[in-house]
Amino acid sequence: MMKIIQTPDALKAALQNESGTVGFVPTMGALHSGHRTLIERSRRENDVVVVSIFVNPTQFLEGEDLGSYPRRKEADEKICELSKVDYLFYPEAASMYARDEAGITAPDVRGYILEGRSRPGHFDGVLTVVMKLLNIVNPTRAYFGKKDAQQLMLISEMVRSFFMDVEIVAMDTVREDDGLALSSRNVYLSSEERKEALKISFSLKRAGKLIMQNIKASDRIMAEIHAILEPLEVEYVAVVNRRFEPIEHVEIDNTIILVEAVVGKTRLLDNIWI
Ligand code: PAF
Repeated sequence: MMKIIQTPDALKAALQNESGTVGFVPTMGALHSGHRTLIERSRRENDVVVVSIFVNPTQFLEGEDLGSYPRRKEADEKICELSKVDYLFYPEAASMYARDEAGITAPDVRGYILEGRSRPGHFDGVLTVVMKLLNIVNPTRAYFGKKDAQQLMLISEMVRSFFMDVEIVAMDTVREDDGLALSSRNVYLSSEERKEALKISFSLKRAGKLIMQNIKASDRIMAEIHAILEPLEVEYVAVVNRRFEPIEHVEIDNTIILVEAVVGKTRLLDNIWI
């Protein structure tokens, strides 16, 4: 029977009575199949599974969609229950944050390029809440999607930098049949915008094809992606290595190609790992 827990202290106390490995899937709710694959893998690999749902205010900038971010409490609970989650952690912001407290800052360079440039300070909020959540749950493994590639890299590096004892498990992006990467924010798209949004995954697929034809110059690949994305508002197109350093040529098994574009009012991210 899944237990729903609302405070950090109560979750810590409950987990103290558990034995074996703990798998943790941190989320902001509005769960979709991408989250489900994380939860299912966590279920297969661990004795105890914890999912958190917390729309973390500190990772939203002034004027962003904190107030309107999709909240689907009942549906999310059902998904977790059906996926055999043991603990669903549903904290209020007041139990997660105090006033004038310490926090984690993202790296000066790699926390402030790409997504961090579009949303300065966003990754400080992400790293701070993930540090808090990992300290509360103390999991053996924590599961994240590759769709938020920069977030995944920064969390993996934070875990290394702070000598934390958790394995970060990265999982492939889950897509609709037509290629659109699943995101809780896709619900903002009108049917017309949804069609436009397909340009993003299509452009990345095209990049993959160019690389298969041995075209590896980053400039050439980025130009092709930009041409396909027209007339969307493009925040960035980038070719980086796994450490998020820009590279001039694609390196097999060490490259991520990333796109962020705004469709209507919705900011959409996608990437492919080469
Ligand atoms: O990717 C997300 O849903 C969030 O950024 C995370 C990791 C749960 C932190 O709030």
